[in-house]
Amino acid sequence: MDSVTHRIALLPGDGIGPEVTTEATRVLHAACERFGISVTTKSFDLGAERYLRTGDTMPQDVFEHLRDDFDAILLGAFGDPRVPKQVHARDILLGLRQRLDLYANVRPVQLIEERFCPLKGRGPDDIDMVIVRENTESVYAGIGGTLRPGTPHEVAQTVMISTRMACERLLRYAFELARQRKGFFTLCDKANAIEDAHGLWRRTLAAINDEYPDVEARTLYADVAAMRMVTHPHDFDIVVADNVMGDILSDLAAALVGGLGLAPSASVHPGVHALYEPVHGSAPDIVGTGKANPLAAILSVAMLLRDFGHNDAADAVSSACKNAVLGRHTTPDLGGTLATADVGTYICGSLAQA
Ligand code: NAD
Ligand code: IPM
Ligand code: MN
Repeated sequence: MDSVTHRIALLPGDGIGPEVTTEATRVLHAACERFGISVTTKSFDLGAERYLRTGDTMPQDVFEHLRDDFDAILLGAFGDPRVPKQVHARDILLGLRQRLDLYANVRPVQLIEERFCPLKGRGPDDIDMVIVRENTESVYAGIGGTLRPGTPHEVAQTVMISTRMACERLLRYAFELARQRKGFFTLCDKANAIEDAHGLWRRTLAAINDEYPDVEARTLYADVAAMRMVTHPHDFDIVVADNVMGDILSDLAAALVGGLGLAPSASVHPGVHALYEPVHGSAPDIVGTGKANPLAAILSVAMLLRDFGHNDAADAVSSACKNAVLGRHTTPDLGGTLATADVGTYICGSLAQA
């Protein structure tokens, strides 16, 4: 038995968040049991229900507990049509990304089988990329305001900020990742139109590029990148983008491989804090139907296990997911007939035999 115990905080959240997190947690425990990894989990009642009941979004003592007493957070999704302006999601989800300074949002996208790709004639060799999204700044920094709200003279402003520090640390993350992958990355921005906030990305890249002579840093405007991801997906390996471009490009990329039900993510400040979550949201349209695909959440568990150095366990979870997909042991979004919990049961069963 591994002597270290990993303390994982569970934030199931809203909508299908609890449904997929339940399965991801079962898989986490099954994988840890199978590979002799010591883990504890503690679930937190945060989200729309609590907000509607008490007005709490992220109480300070809960935030400090999450920050100080856990090695990682496993999160479902936040968002509920009953909550005005999604204040709770802003405080919890965006709040954790910012306050824990989880600056790199890493979103791998891999095609498992041709039939999941909406593009003609593309197979697994064509699509294997990872989006590295800046996770704390841009228009998500929360700087702005509204003047004369609700009047014909209303003025709304959201400030897009980029700091040299945030550009630099994310680019360095991408350079290092490129060394472990194919030796190149593509920075996608709108430096042509957003001269200051996005121009800084290119100037920062120019300033540090020489330190990584073994890595090729490519640049593309984000609109062209969106087009080329569809026409030439094999040209992409690591996609680096600011917070808002990365948000959009990551859903586009997910659509190339079977949709949001298969898209995991990690939001990390390497060596300090880490949060794992599916890319998808709370999917109010399918909540309670058993149609929620838990694989994105389960693949996020695989990312967690890998980051904690448990490569065998991570590989076992990833291949169990892959086999589930290939064998059609899936929810309807991937052509199967299983319900959310049955997919979890299938993966746990595969792990027991791995
Ligand atoms: P969504 O990702 O919740 O859903 C988009 C579409 O994909 C829906 O048709 C949904 O049914 C489908 N879908 C999503 N996840 C699925 C899964 N696991 N299995 C099968 N189908 C799945 O995006 P939305 O509808 O725009 O947003 C709903 C709410 O979630 C909003 O409040 C939004 O802000 C929030 N949201 C939260 C997160 C997060 O917590 N990380 C991410 C995205 C959206
Ligand atoms: C995501 C989501 C969030 C984002 C929303 C819910 C604020 O779309 O995690 O991709 O825009 O970052
Ligand atoms: Mn998104």
